[in-house]
Order: sequence, then structure tokens, then C-alpha cells
Amino acid sequence: MSRIIKTFKTPFSGKLVEIGPDVDGDVIIMAIESSCDETACAVVRNGREVLANVVASQIKTHQKFGGVVPEVAAREHLESINLVIAEAFEQSKLNPSDITAYAATVGPGLVGSLLVGLNAAKALAITYDKPFIGVNHLNAHVCANYIDTDLKPPFVALLVSGGHTQVIRVDSYIEQHIVAETIDDAVGEAYDKVARLMGLPYPGGPNLDKMSKNGDKYAYKLPQAKVGDDEFSFSGLKTAVLQLCRRLKENLGELPKEDVAASFQECISDTLVKKTVNIAQKHNIKTLALAGGVAANSEIRRKFFDLENDGYKVYAPPMKYCTDNASMVAASAYFLANTMDDLSQEVFSRVK
Ligand code: KG4
Ligand code: ZN
Repeated sequence: MSRIIKTFKTPFSGKLVEIGPDVDGDVIIMAIESSCDETACAVVRNGREVLANVVASQIKTHQKFGGVVPEVAAREHLESINLVIAEAFEQSKLNPSDITAYAATVGPGLVGSLLVGLNAAKALAITYDKPFIGVNHLNAHVCANYIDTDLKPPFVALLVSGGHTQVIRVDSYIEQHIVAETIDDAVGEAYDKVARLMGLPYPGGPNLDKMSKNGDKYAYKLPQAKVGDDEFSFSGLKTAVLQLCRRLKENLGELPKEDVAASFQECISDTLVKKTVNIAQKHNIKTLALAGGVAANSEIRRKFFDLENDGYKVYAPPMKYCTDNASMVAASAYFLANTMDDLSQEVFSRVK
């Protein structure tokens, strides 16, 4: 197999710098993540060893609006960006010149927010004459699985976040193929919408997860969408929960929130596991990895780790690397997973 190494030019002197999993010697990447409501900066050695991981969350700010307000998010990133960078240098005990390359998420995400992180990383790269590496947020979520592990491709990844739901076949560090995708809502979006209709505060996902722990997951049978093997659909489920809540309120006067939450979680987690296993079987792959904010979900994790009894090797990042963070961005830059290295690289809001 060919060695995975890419040569980057530094912006000022044009010096050549090698990055990639087959480079001899240490590659230290500082990365910035600012695609949504977390301002994060991390320093990672050789794609797997975290030397600093700093996250400034905006949850409290957006809670009063019931969701992320893009303009408010961008302004808050501006306020936090220098602080998280300084903190990451301090945690790692490194100087800017010790960094091999600077990376940032370039999309998908909120454009105003992405610009803050992108421009900070570009400024560092230009000032210290180091390569700049642009990272795709979705690839970064998958690469969170390399941190502190020995995971190597090939494997099948289930990526479940606020904006995306995909099954990805990872053939090598640099080759990832989407083999299934949602045709409507993302899993995180379904969680957040159902949580809102049940009156739970933002962010809905973790609150609904917590609430479902005290409920009976077999209380109500909710429908699983009848779509193709390479498709997910969650908008029908959301409507079914809405109708169920109305009916229960009418009949009982009060909503048995815990049971509804647990039944919703059972339906979603069952769908995700069945589809992923089906795809893994089809591609003859026995290694699975979970990724994205919803990979923090207790029931989805439990069901996936249960698959180890069926001979699967299962990976899932610890909670802090499931939700948005910059260590996964640095890992993605190191493994060259769908990266962009041009200093003229601009941000993008959606996957084209
Ligand atoms: O990956 P992420 O941090 O941001 C995006 O890239 O979208 O994912 C955020 C999503 C939100 O929808 C949030 O409600 C959901 O992940 N989430 C959860 C849990 N923790 C976060 N959903 C279900 N259960 C959880 N424990
Ligand atoms: Zn994310």
C-alpha cells in the first residue's frame, strides 16, 4: 500500500513540510473548531495524542433562545477565540513555533462562525510560517475515533450529529465513502425537535437522554421509517411523537414524559444499530465506529457496544470528543481525511 504523506508549502518562505500518518518523527497540529456553538482549540501529536483540548461552550447563551442564533454565535466566537488559543498553548506547554501546522474547520457550519476560526488559524499559519490545513467537520467527527486508540481503517462509521446522519465506509485514512444518509431530519435534529415539543430546554438531545433513563422504553411502539437500505428518515417519527403526546395529554391530562422519551430513544437507537449492522455485513467489515454529538447518547452507545458479543470491534469516542471539539479537527488534519490546504480556502455552510 502506498504511504500516506502529503507535502505542504509554508505560506511565507515556501519551505516544504510533510504531514500524514506515515511521516517519520513527530507532527504536532494546533486546530480550531468554530462551526456552531463551541469555540475550541486543541494541540494533538501524531493524530492520536492530545496535548491540549480547550472548549468554550455557548450553550448558556443560546438556551434563552431555544436554539443557536447564528449572529450571536459568531460574536461570541470572536470574544472567545483568543482566550481558547492562549489556553491551548498554556496546556500544551508549547510555543507557536513548535507547531508543525495550523488547522481549522472550514465547513459545513454557520458561515459567520466558521470565518472566526478559519481566519485565526490562517493568521497563525502566516505569522509563524507554517502550513494551513482546512478540515471538513464531518470527517473530523469520524477521526475523533483515532484519539487515544489503535483504530485503523477499514471500518464502518455511523455519524450522528445535529445536522447529519450518515453511514460512512472508511477504506483508508484518506478515503471515506458515504454509503447511507438521511433523506430528511438528522438524528440530533429529531432529538432536539422532540425535546422541544416535550418542553425540555435546549440542547434537547442530552436532556431527553437523561429523562429516558427513568422511563419504560417499551411503553409506546413508535414507527420505524420504511426507506431503502441506504437511507434514513426521521421526520415521520417526529410527527408520530407529536400525535402520541397530544393523545396522551387528552387521555391522561399529563404527559408521561419519561416513557415517551425512553420509547423515542428505543426506536431511534434500534433503527441506527440495525441499519449500520446491515451495511457492515454487506461490506464484510467487522469494525464499527460511532461519531458526532449524538454518539454521546447512552442507549445508542449501549446497543453498539453490545455488538461486541456478536464479534464486532466497536469504537466510540469519550463524551468530550463526541460533541464539537478541536482535537478531532487536528486528528483529521493529521490523517489527511478530505483536507484542503490552500490559504485561499473559504468557508462553506453545506456539503455540496
Ligand atoms: O456534533 P454536534 O456537537 O454538533 C453538530 O455538528 O451538529 O452534535 C450536536 C447534536 C445536538 O442535536 C444534540 O442535541 C445532540 O448532538 N446530542 C445528543 C446527546 N448529546 C448531544 N443527542 C442525544 N443524546 C445525547 N446524549
Ligand atoms: Zn459537530
